[in-house]
Amino acid sequence: GTLSEIKERGKLIIGTEPTFPPFEYVDKDNNIVGFDIDIAKKIAEELGVELEIVNLPFDSLIPAIMSDKIDLIIAGMTITKERAKVIDFSIPYFNANQSIVVRKGESFSPKSLNELVGKRVAVQLGTTGDLVVSDIKRIKITRFQKFTDAFLELQNKRVDAVVLDEAVARAYVKKFPKFEVSTVIDTGEKYGIGVKKENTELLEFVNKVISNLFKSPYDVLVEKWF
Ligand code: ARG
Repeated sequence: GTLSEIKERGKLIIGTEPTFPPFEYVDKDNNIVGFDIDIAKKIAEELGVELEIVNLPFDSLIPAIMSDKIDLIIAGMTITKERAKVIDFSIPYFNANQSIVVRKGESFSPKSLNELVGKRVAVQLGTTGDLVVSDIKRIKITRFQKFTDAFLELQNKRVDAVVLDEAVARAYVKKFPKFEVSTVIDTGEKYGIGVKKENTELLEFVNKVISNLFKSPYDVLVEKWF
């Protein structure tokens, strides 16, 4: 919805896919929490409305915003040319790269995407990880809706590696030390919040909230008094 529709409704509805720690994941009390969720809370707070979080498969987020089921996509989503044809993105709020995760202590420890040729690789459907491996011929790709399922597949030795965003890979490896990051692939990605095209007022509002997040309390004081 537009800025005024959201205020009238008294609720901001964001869409996310919560198997992506520390950006969005389900905690032990079954709440969706994380870095992105705190940004969403901040936007709702600044708007003076409640926050509703809709849990969707990653590849359903863009269709959902286009059909007005959600107001914003906050899902560690990389700003890409293809996606920017159909939705608008906020200013970038996080830098990211892809990485390869394998079972720890085994001989297979690829240092480049090319070493995945002939191997079985799990990715999340529709992500940039999916794109980078799909670009290389003769990788056997299994595409999952949930990263939790991709890692289960790795644990059960039905795939040899999982390719995903580095910060998220680190979070999984920390939680499950049976996995390790074998290498980082420098893809130079930037995350943005997705907004429906032409929804300019909302986009500008979101940009304002993000740029304020980058300001130190000192910057805020200077801006207030000078
Ligand atoms: N940054 C990657 C992309 O944009 C992965 C994002 C996955 N996000 C998630 N919440 N599952 O394709």
